[in-house]
Amino acid sequence: MITQHVVWVLTLAGIGIVALTFVYVLANSGKTADAAVTTHKAYSIRRWWFIALIVFGVAVTYLTLTPFPIGHQGALATNAQMVDAVGRQWSWQLSRNEVRAGTPVQFNVSSVDVNHGFAIYGPDDLIVTQTQAMPGFTNRLLHTFTRPGTYRVMCLEYCGLAHHAMVAQFEVVPADNGGQP
Ligand code: CUA
Repeated sequence: MITQHVVWVLTLAGIGIVALTFVYVLANSGKTADAAVTTHKAYSIRRWWFIALIVFGVAVTYLTLTPFPIGHQGALATNAQMVDAVGRQWSWQLSRNEVRAGTPVQFNVSSVDVNHGFAIYGPDDLIVTQTQAMPGFTNRLLHTFTRPGTYRVMCLEYCGLAHHAMVAQFEVVPADNGGQP
């Protein structure tokens, strides 16, 4: 509801800006202007817009990419717990359904038919990490679970009639030393 309200206000503001622009253009349409002055002004505005957009874009990119939820995949985890995950229309097959918290887990994700989205959701139903399940490829997905509980694998790529039913479940059990990595 809050989102709807914000969108409503933003829409009204947008309409207002467009309307004001029309009024401004109408009010000034009778006057003659010096082309050189107008051109200079327009270039100046355009330059500042350009700089502002670059600063804005870099800032938004930086702020939104810093807390990237997927860990560094290039890291070698020699002590990883291996889980083979195979997707098919319409189920997941996991080579094990219990992993330990605190030690990296390496999911080797593939598919036997079409593309599927391999997404892991935590006990709080928030997405933890994800990758693609693709036929002919094995995508490696590294993740270290910190919280024990029941996790679910769900498909994030529409793959046919029973796409919504592609759900599997596994347990994250506390580490041997009581959950501390
Ligand atoms: Cu598999 Cu959607």
